[in-house]
Amino acid sequence: MSGSSFMFDWVYSDKVKSHFMEPRNILEDPEYQDDGKGQVGSMACGDQMLVVIQVEDDRIKDIKWKTYGCASAIASTSMMSEMVKGMTLEEAYLLTPDMITQKLGGLPQHKFHCSVLGDKALRAAIDDYLDRQGLDNPYRKNVAQIICECRNVTDQQIEELVKSGKAETLEQVQEITGLGTVCGSCRSKARDLVHELLHMYGK
Ligand code: FES
Repeated sequence: MSGSSFMFDWVYSDKVKSHFMEPRNILEDPEYQDDGKGQVGSMACGDQMLVVIQVEDDRIKDIKWKTYGCASAIASTSMMSEMVKGMTLEEAYLLTPDMITQKLGGLPQHKFHCSVLGDKALRAAIDDYLDRQGLDNPYRKNVAQIICECRNVTDQQIEELVKSGKAETLEQVQEITGLGTVCGSCRSKARDLVHELLHMYGK
């Protein structure tokens, strides 16, 4: 066998394929009664993601989503939607793209940034829920700081990449996450951070 179907088989895990071919918890009901709604990404980049949640007793009772993203974004959000049902809001808020990727059996490195979309939209939905309730967000302080606003890349993600040895230069971080590829205003902050992390992890 040769050609693109062979490459697809080779690059993605069976779990990724399963979630891509049969995504779970897709938002289909236009009348869905959400308690919180989060939308991230941009149509211009073709990677918009919408996540809606229902909350009961501080737990995610139900979650639905839809996206115009790629196979990796679809698979990782589908997996995420299965993982967060029943979680407390705090547990859901602290979920990282790495945790989702591991459950999927990994993603190709250059696809890692696609997996952050669902996670970011979920946080936005929880923010929206708390906002609607008139509550302050007690979890935000525990999560990473966004370094690249355009591509939603956090310091925590960059740290994970450097720590694991997946990236040893700013260029590699850019390649994997898409950081700095839109307005470019985050590049010098990101360069300092990568430098600091390389120093921290002895690379
Ligand atoms: S903030 Fe990073 S590219 Fe714009």
